[in-house]
Amino acid sequence: MELNFGSLTFKVAQGDITRFPAEAIVNAANKYLEHGGGVAYAIAKVAAGDVREYIRISKEAMKEQIGRNWIEHGEVVVTPAMKMEQYGIKYVIHTVGPYCGGKWDEDKKEKLKKAILGALRKAEELGVKSIAFPAISAGIYGCPFEEVVKTFVEMVKEFSEEAKSVKEVYLVLYSKKDYERALKTLTV
Ligand code: APR
Repeated sequence: MELNFGSLTFKVAQGDITRFPAEAIVNAANKYLEHGGGVAYAIAKVAAGDVREYIRISKEAMKEQIGRNWIEHGEVVVTPAMKMEQYGIKYVIHTVGPYCGGKWDEDKKEKLKKAILGALRKAEELGVKSIAFPAISAGIYGCPFEEVVKTFVEMVKEFSEEAKSVKEVYLVLYSKKDYERALKTLTV
């Protein structure tokens, strides 16, 4: 399933983001880049082989790039793809979505949009052509899946006005069930 916004294509795909052939993949991180669970743990494990090592690398990068031990919504940190390079991935862009715990409102939506936009702008800065996102905040952070999917479309559409280097934005859903739910959300 794909949607075209000017020179930018938004594609919904199913699979494991740690093996997804995009130049940059995005991590749904927490503000301290402690990759303890979900997609963050999976990325850290595949990238470095050792989760604690990738947390160390991430925290060091955060100190260097942000000058703090935490990031806000919209701030991002870049780390190398390491072992994921074999799949064509060059960078991991860490971003933080909102915590919802089942609730959804304008504030959460704005925070999610900031998290997505921060990663997209960093991808531009890095000069990559393709970027793949997981469903940020739709797992442990408990944001309603359909709202997350709709927010992605809205943000990517807005970003298409300023996109230059980035041509393909993927939303990679892990389960077949989520993939089908996303397609349903986008076709109604
Ligand atoms: N590939 C693609 N998507 C994945 C993968 C994977 N390998 N593993 C999990 N997912 C999906 C989940 O199914 C979910 O839809 O990523 C989505 C986001 O889920 P979480 O990883 O739980 O992220 P989030 O809800 O943003 O919660 C962030 O979880 O991992 C911790 O450190 C992270 O504390 C932070 C919190």
